[in-house]
Amino acid sequence: MIQIAIMGYGVVGSGVAEIISTHKQSLAKKAKEEIQIKHILDLREFPDSPFAHIFTKDFNDILNDDDVKVVVEVMGGVKPAFEFVKACLEKGKSVVTSNKELVAKKGAELLAAAQKANANFLFEASVGGGIPIIRPLNQCLAANDVDEIAGILNGTTNFILTKMIREQMSFKDALALAQSLGYAERDPSADVNGDDACRKICILASLAYGKHIYPDNIYTEGITSITLEDVEYAAAWGGVIKLIGEVKHLESGKKDVFVAPMFISHDSQLSSVDDVFNGIMVRGDSTGDVVFYGKGAGKLPTASAVVADVIDCIKHLDSRKYLFWADSNGEDVEPYENSVAAMYIRVTQDKGNAYETAQQVFGNIRRLTRNNATANECAFVTDEMSIKELRAKISQLTDNGVNVLNSIRIGDL
Ligand code: HSE
Repeated sequence: MIQIAIMGYGVVGSGVAEIISTHKQSLAKKAKEEIQIKHILDLREFPDSPFAHIFTKDFNDILNDDDVKVVVEVMGGVKPAFEFVKACLEKGKSVVTSNKELVAKKGAELLAAAQKANANFLFEASVGGGIPIIRPLNQCLAANDVDEIAGILNGTTNFILTKMIREQMSFKDALALAQSLGYAERDPSADVNGDDACRKICILASLAYGKHIYPDNIYTEGITSITLEDVEYAAAWGGVIKLIGEVKHLESGKKDVFVAPMFISHDSQLSSVDDVFNGIMVRGDSTGDVVFYGKGAGKLPTASAVVADVIDCIKHLDSRKYLFWADSNGEDVEPYENSVAAMYIRVTQDKGNAYETAQQVFGNIRRLTRNNATANECAFVTDEMSIKELRAKISQLTDNGVNVLNSIRIGDL
């Protein structure tokens, strides 16, 4: 029998406990050991829980219990999760987490601590919830050089955009609906501002390229400025707007990494990833495109990935799974102003012709139209250019009396 502990009894933690008790026998066969939850750490009281007798408020009960071989961290956030996880690893306990903020900000340090203690630190659930992506990227696609990863990595924003696209719901109403359905937090900023997607693309990029890519170094744009007019123009262009986290390997060896809303063509598989689902495309040099799809959040999908990692830890109690990236100083990340894309731009001009001004500034542009556009409104798609050039041209537009209402990358996925 192997004894484990769970730190955090929120949505995911209670799902982990539930799966371990409801699937006791099948998990025992897979792990070749019965799994017993010995402690659950949480500051709250759960008197009616079937696990009420094993709750503790003292982390030391877990840290100092030598019978506990695997610890599940599903508390979220960096404090105190980082301190607790590091202490467990240093004691030689393996740790499994779903905490993307922790892995994205502290992954290199925790992987080094795990390596030093000959323990495992696994985090399949930190990206894509129930979708297998960390293990496939690390193992099944290991023969590939990864040219690019692009994904819809946040279910809440994908739900909001889907409602805007399919039901012409405003951003504000779609967000309120997402909150009422329990998808979005009361404070939805980490989702709608793109921070959650940023953490996830940083984890995937670090794993694919072997060096830590820190969220603070990554350009991150959310969906708060997307309007129904933009959605209509995306349809006229032949696609939909999706929030994409992307990393591309450049010829220089540097990585172009960013999170931004994008026009995605109906030809791309990512265009049909709707509602709270996630979709992740990995472009390998041998495989070509491989796409992973499924539920990126939620109690049981996320807990399923956590429990699979627990089984893996149990099967590797005396050896290490090779899952590692080194620390870095951020040199590998190409500055965002050098990132290259064609752009959709929506403008108005009170005096003068917006389209003519845009042509003068951008040269070759393709105009888009929509029903009920005001006479002074104009939307167009540019040729590819760097973000630096784009910003300079947007300044030129502004100097010529044009109001730039929005600009969105055109995806080539
Ligand atoms: N807030 C996240 C999402 C939860 O909406 O995808 C899963 O990481």
